[in-house]
Amino acid sequence: MPERTAFDAKTLERRYYIDEDVYDRETDRIFFRNWLFVGRVSEIAEPGAYMLFELESESIIVLRDYEGVLRAHHNVCRHRGTRLVNEPTGIFPKSIQCGYHAWTYTLSGELTGAPFMDEVESFCKEDYPLVSVAVAEWEGCVFVNLSEEPEPFAKVFAPLVDKFTSWDLASLEIAHRIVYDIPANWKLVFQNYSECYHCPALHPVLNRLTPFRNASNDLEEGPFLGGPMKMEIEGGSMTMTGQRCAAPLGDLEGDDLNFVQYYTIFPNLLLSLHPDYVLIHRIDRLATNQTRIICDWLFHPDAIAAPDFDPSSAIEFWNMTNEQDWSVSRLSQKGIASHAYRPGPYAELESMIAAWDQEYLRALG
Ligand code: FES
Ligand SMILES: [Fe+2]
Repeated sequence: MPERTAFDAKTLERRYYIDEDVYDRETDRIFFRNWLFVGRVSEIAEPGAYMLFELESESIIVLRDYEGVLRAHHNVCRHRGTRLVNEPTGIFPKSIQCGYHAWTYTLSGELTGAPFMDEVESFCKEDYPLVSVAVAEWEGCVFVNLSEEPEPFAKVFAPLVDKFTSWDLASLEIAHRIVYDIPANWKLVFQNYSECYHCPALHPVLNRLTPFRNASNDLEEGPFLGGPMKMEIEGGSMTMTGQRCAAPLGDLEGDDLNFVQYYTIFPNLLLSLHPDYVLIHRIDRLATNQTRIICDWLFHPDAIAAPDFDPSSAIEFWNMTNEQDWSVSRLSQKGIASHAYRPGPYAELESMIAAWDQEYLRALG
């Protein structure tokens, strides 16, 4: 395993956590340019199903059309700009109709109905399709990119593309979801996830299952960071009992059954792979000091369908651990907002935060 040091790195300056200017720069340079995790394909499995993805001024309709193709369009009518849909999820009955003057679009975005516009001589429906957004699917995860010229998804995700095939991630379904709203900057959530230096003090239960020194990293620079962490209980999992609560995923076997894998996926996804389930955190940046975290517990559909399926031990474990992490993130935000805050030195155990900060600053330009 390659070793990495924190290179005497220090925490980011105060302005990165409180300034509106930094926030706006993040919007342009990071969130309007990178591939963003939206949700799971299983959430829009049915033809016509959609989910909205909201980011600052933008609202994106992510849908599955009646040919089964995933598509994404700006939620903006081409007549007078009105939002087409308001509900966060739903099913389109074959078309998308604006509630204002009833302009109607196919799910692939073509304008097919524009009442009385034939009275306008120069008007041509073909000139007014919905504005589409780049969409990609990886391991059952849906991503969008708001840039007009996105970097190809396959190129960006090359380091991850076949990395998790053993978990059969694509087939997993959401068994449970908890949404958290916390008064802390989004970067504090990534930074907190990127080290286990805090585990002995903050997570006594987690630290018994995976003592903090068991952490290792196999992706150490760039937009994806993290690696495996060995569990103390052979064939165990990260649950209240330390035991698996479902059969091993995919074709996991041998030593893979003794590890949990933790990865940060820049800029809005945390991916935690356990032998029996996968945890995903979608990080929604809402304001300099406000973040929403959508946390999903994914299991194999066969496990979910079993009459004795009981994920409560995994849910309780991560809900407890999440709350512990959010509590310190909240306190960090408060302290960093103080004029007394100065960048502090990272421990060697925090080398992945130093790497994350570098990637962040690079992206910010
Ligand atoms: S604004 Fe949508 S039809 Fe007029
Ligand atoms: Fe933690």
